Amino acid sequence: MNSDKTKILLLGAGGFIGTNLTEQLLKNEKYKVTAIDINTEKLEGSLQNKNLIFKEYDIRDSNYPIEELIKNNEIVVDLIAMANPSLYVSNPIDVFNLNFTENLRIAELCLKYNKRIIQFSTCEVYGKTVASVLKEDPIKRPFPFNEDTSPMIMGPIKNHRWIYACAKQLLERVLHAYGIEKGLNYTIIRPFNFIGPRIDFLPSEKSGNPRVFSHFMNGLLYGTPIRLVDGGLNYRAYTYIDDAIDCIIRIIENPDGVCDREIFNIGTPENEISIKDLATLMKEIFNQNFRQNLDPDPKIISVSSEEFYGKGYEDCDRRIPDVTKARTKLNWYSKHNIESVVFNTMEYFVNKHRAKYN
Ligand code: NAD
Ligand code: UGA
Repeated sequence: MNSDKTKILLLGAGGFIGTNLTEQLLKNEKYKVTAIDINTEKLEGSLQNKNLIFKEYDIRDSNYPIEELIKNNEIVVDLIAMANPSLYVSNPIDVFNLNFTENLRIAELCLKYNKRIIQFSTCEVYGKTVASVLKEDPIKRPFPFNEDTSPMIMGPIKNHRWIYACAKQLLERVLHAYGIEKGLNYTIIRPFNFIGPRIDFLPSEKSGNPRVFSHFMNGLLYGTPIRLVDGGLNYRAYTYIDDAIDCIIRIIENPDGVCDREIFNIGTPENEISIKDLATLMKEIFNQNFRQNLDPDPKIISVSSEEFYGKGYEDCDRRIPDVTKARTKLNWYSKHNIESVVFNTMEYFVNKHRAKYN
């Protein structure tokens, strides 16, 4: 009998956040998860679980009964997106169509069937800092991003990298409008650079251009140069995936409805680091804990953003999450510092690599 279980439809369940979330939800008998993705590779460990129904499905395929699935679940968690910056530069129209148009259809079906939707957005909706506009040093003028008060500062249209942030921001605005005009019950999550096991692939093992950790890890394991885009001077604040999942589950549980029609940053301001320092820290942690005799010693070099991504790239200089809301409403605090975020994620990649090649 499953009637007492909370039925969750997880769209994009085969990705980095999706697989980690699925695994955690399935540890609790109270959830029944229907997982949708075009990819099963990372979900392998969960596929046999009796509380999981997996359906390999492309949400762009209009023949698939997505409406039935939404009707038959209580909460819809939508993680589907193209989420790698290189795609924003190389395939901006695909990024817009998937991240806005297709996800809007999901939200409209949630409205039709009166279902709660948890929509994954991004910290990129904040864009850049005030300091970057004033051409000041962002370190001297900290500008924490707050869900309900911060302005959003994007670059010009010719820098089409911003299409990802704009598509996500527009979706947020439509959800908000459906909330105030028609009562849609949504919660928006803005993740700030989660990393951990199962994030992306290594470029020497699979073609493509993943997020930064995988590139640097590739250098440590395969000897490809660690490339700092435009010198690696911009900052990110990293959150370990287990901490992030803890917060996401609190949002799913939604005690006393505190997440209804709210936006939550999930991030760890204490774990801020420049990309240049991330490269150095990764080298140090690798050398101290994982290095074996035949491992390469990659060079750290600087490349231009145009060389790395192509024309149309522009970067966010600094992203400090204001997480007061998650702390006060959900009593959520992340536990991992930057060293443990890097160590744990690295351990995952190293173990996978050694199992394959040793
Ligand atoms: P991911 O790329 O690992 O996961 C996305 C999943 O969506 C993939 O498994 C992919 O196969 C699936 N997908 C893509 N197109 C699909 C389609 N047409 N039909 C069905 N499935 C499809 O990314 P992630 O890091 O897990 O991010 C999940 C969400 O969180 C995204 O919306 C992303 O924009 C957002 N986000 C993530 C981070 C982060 O730190 N990882 C930061 C900001 C925002
Ligand atoms: C990414 C994506 O936009 C989304 O997944 C998400 O919204 C956001 O992360 C997030 O995780 O919060 P970004 O942080 O720019 O955005 O993605 P990365 O590819 O990880 O790049 C981080 C920084 O490292 C950028 O400054 C980039 O230019 C730089 N970089 C990247 C390098 O210096 N070298 C590389 O090899 C790769």
